[in-house]
Amino acid sequence: MTDAALDTRSGLLPGLLREAGALALAYFRDPSRFTVQVKGLQDQASDADRAVEELISGRIAALFPQDAILGEETGSGGALAADGETWDRRDGGAGFLWVIDPIDGTQCFVNAIPVWCVSVALLRNGQTVAGGIFDPNADELFLARAGRGASLNGTPLTCSPAGTLDQGVVGIGFSHRTGTEPALAAIDGLAQAGGMFQRNGSGALMLAYVAAGRLLGYFEAHINAWDCLAGNLLVTEAGGHVSPFLADGGLTGGGPLLAAAPGVAAELGRICAMTGNEGCL
Ligand code: IPD
Ligand code: CA
Ligand code: CA
Repeated sequence: MTDAALDTRSGLLPGLLREAGALALAYFRDPSRFTVQVKGLQDQASDADRAVEELISGRIAALFPQDAILGEETGSGGALAADGETWDRRDGGAGFLWVIDPIDGTQCFVNAIPVWCVSVALLRNGQTVAGGIFDPNADELFLARAGRGASLNGTPLTCSPAGTLDQGVVGIGFSHRTGTEPALAAIDGLAQAGGMFQRNGSGALMLAYVAAGRLLGYFEAHINAWDCLAGNLLVTEAGGHVSPFLADGGLTGGGPLLAAAPGVAAELGRICAMTGNEGCL
């Protein structure tokens, strides 16, 4: 079935992500071009974050002025109603919402560590229908479209075939938005199961790695929508399982997240429950 409104929007993603990634990379390679501002404990933003978000939002607004945009650095710009449920439909509405993280992995970015990416998700009527993550340092473009699979530089992706946690590595995210207990409980549960953990500084990239079969799964006690929506679609389209982040109000407030390859989803679900987050998977 053709879906012209969605096709034109999702068709924008590859070029948009590459253009945004190139701009971010130019800043990254010349740190004299940016200053860093502190938003919170271990939470920073730079001129690069804002410039990249402006580039992405500007391209979208020029082509689809009726669409709503939720960007990490500029906020919702009035795109969402206060209850977070009602989209801004200036034209009577196609119901599209773009969710942008201009640079995910900002702490790495500002410390000259090449582990960060650009992430853009597209929602229609509250469901993620397309998304992409671009890692300019590795020249890796991850794309997903609901019902049509996930790909890396054009090659289809599937999650790891592993059946037990001792067969690979699980990403564990942590930010100071929560205490340390859930992350420590997850690490403990993983270790008991013969598993291993990694935190690379970019939740979006670790979710893309779950979709690519590089990581067995990903857990974070609190993550925001711009960090994870594109990655969540990548994982589900690659055959993995993702906890009900949007159904639990994650769009406006963020929340806990578990993503897992199918063969380890039950085991990771049990570990997630040990962190105090019931019903992860
Ligand atoms: C952060 C990263 C980090 C995750 C945090 C995010 P930022 O995003 O994804 O890995 O643990 O929850 O806030 O600040 O680099 O865009
Ligand atoms: Ca982020
Ligand atoms: Ca960010």
